Amino acid sequence: MPVVIVDGKEVEIGANERLNGIQVARRVGAEVPHYCWHPGLSVVASCRMCLVECGQKDAATGKIAMQPRLVPACQTPAKDGTVFVTNSQKVIDARAMVEEDLLLRHPVDCPICDKAGECSLQDYHFEHGRESRRADIQPFTSRRRDLGDTVTLFVDRCVMCTRCVRFTREISGTSELMVINRGAHEEIDVFRYENGEIHFPLENKLSGNVCDLCPVGALGDKDFLYKQRVWFMKSHDNVCAGCSTGCSIKVEENQDHVYRLKPRENPHINTWWMCDEGRYDWKHVHDPNRLLELRRKSTTSSNGDYSNLDWHLLPAELDKSLKAAGKLGVVLSPHLTVEEAYLLAKYVRGLDPNAVVAMGPIPVEGKDEKFKNGFVIHSEKCPNRRGVEAVAAYFAGKLISWEDFLNDQAASLGGVWISGGYKSAWHTDADAAKLAGVKTLVVHDCFASPLWNAATFQLPGGTFAEREGSYVNYQDRLQSFRWAIRAPAGVKVEGQLFWQLTGGSGLFRAKQVLADVSREIGYFSAAMGDIPEVGVDLKVNQLAAAGQQLAGAAT
Ligand code: SF4
Ligand code: SF4
Ligand code: FES
Repeated sequence: MPVVIVDGKEVEIGANERLNGIQVARRVGAEVPHYCWHPGLSVVASCRMCLVECGQKDAATGKIAMQPRLVPACQTPAKDGTVFVTNSQKVIDARAMVEEDLLLRHPVDCPICDKAGECSLQDYHFEHGRESRRADIQPFTSRRRDLGDTVTLFVDRCVMCTRCVRFTREISGTSELMVINRGAHEEIDVFRYENGEIHFPLENKLSGNVCDLCPVGALGDKDFLYKQRVWFMKSHDNVCAGCSTGCSIKVEENQDHVYRLKPRENPHINTWWMCDEGRYDWKHVHDPNRLLELRRKSTTSSNGDYSNLDWHLLPAELDKSLKAAGKLGVVLSPHLTVEEAYLLAKYVRGLDPNAVVAMGPIPVEGKDEKFKNGFVIHSEKCPNRRGVEAVAAYFAGKLISWEDFLNDQAASLGGVWISGGYKSAWHTDADAAKLAGVKTLVVHDCFASPLWNAATFQLPGGTFAEREGSYVNYQDRLQSFRWAIRAPAGVKVEGQLFWQLTGGSGLFRAKQVLADVSREIGYFSAAMGDIPEVGVDLKVNQLAAAGQQLAGAAT
């Protein structure tokens, strides 16, 4: 195995690992500051913040020969015998000079900069810069200009790392950004007409990523700009519910109010990116039209009046009404988590062992969109079709689609539970009419709809940010997450209600339910035990099972 020496410590790396000086230094706990290098982009070695000393150890004599000049760690491969020094006086002085040079042309406007608190320039200056700023009183003009619908540029804050330019060339493949002018006059811009009108704005569906990529406050996300200081927010690991890609994300909130979503690194799914659809499509969480009252249709009034119901009275009322309704059916939404779908099906099957278990409608919009680096936004706009289908198939033996449920089953049912959780209209008046004969109709959803208006029990449900559980994405990768914010007053999140209905004691713990699911349903067996942050591949079992079958057939 190749051995690299970093600050006097030997570190063994894999024979086929291709690491640079920054990456190998991390293995011994040394953080080499950097601006232009990003693991997902090509290497340009332009910022010079990562300068280190480098040399080579002779395998035969053990002697180390150091290069006279500092080298950029981002561009220097770690090979057997490579020696890096990241903490010598020479390196420390070089970093201080690079920081000072950057600050010659950078306004120190951290108090009003949106990036303050998560800015590499601020952090590195504190850690590696000079104690005092020698160049000051520059007439900064605080020029700000739009680049497109979602991103704005604070021109003077740019450190010309070109990450954003490389992103649009290498990842989105749309190339809207470029460097204009030369030398100290270089600036980032889009293609404009003479009068400043934008000709080719930055408007690809991955645009928001450039704000995450920008190491300083030059690129601002218009949706988030000046909404929160980042140190007031808490960040929670979550999974995007926007499409079946299932990007790993962080939900950032303050006092149960979501302010932004950001991608979370996951080499198996989204690497470092997420799309704008997922990034900005969380506003329904705080939509004033969200349903917040648990209501039951009056049993006495003939004109369909509703009265409010207490959540603690609901289990008994539901049991009584559903048991008396006759044959039951349940529609599992692809927005439910695996654990929620399992508990709901279990509850309804507990009341009627022959209850019909069907899938809710699968929202599909347009076609899959693939970008230059392979990132895909899927047309299937729900996070958990695969997981919920596996649960439905386990209970029902075969998959019943929403259409088949409405056309072939609905008329014969006395009681139906419908779970929703869609962000927009997901069924029609005609669909609702097909369930008109159902005696007890339970609808669990976030927004009013024809079915909601026809329901016997109206149950306000939670959004993705309030749920806890697991989703399975299009490639059979299961990811678990915890709730990021508490649901608004009046809402009981699906998992908690189903846990109570199935006789669970104490608080709902998705992990506990997933353990049952992975024991009972073969498809989920790889989800036994702790789920890593990057999720688990459920296909592993299927491959193992197929291998066993083949081996069995051969003997
Ligand atoms: S705008 Fe940001 S990401 Fe783009 S070159 Fe400037 S500092 Fe780098
Ligand atoms: S690709 Fe899909 S899962 Fe990923 S951020 Fe976009 S909508 Fe969300
Ligand atoms: S990170 Fe190495 S030169 Fe910029």
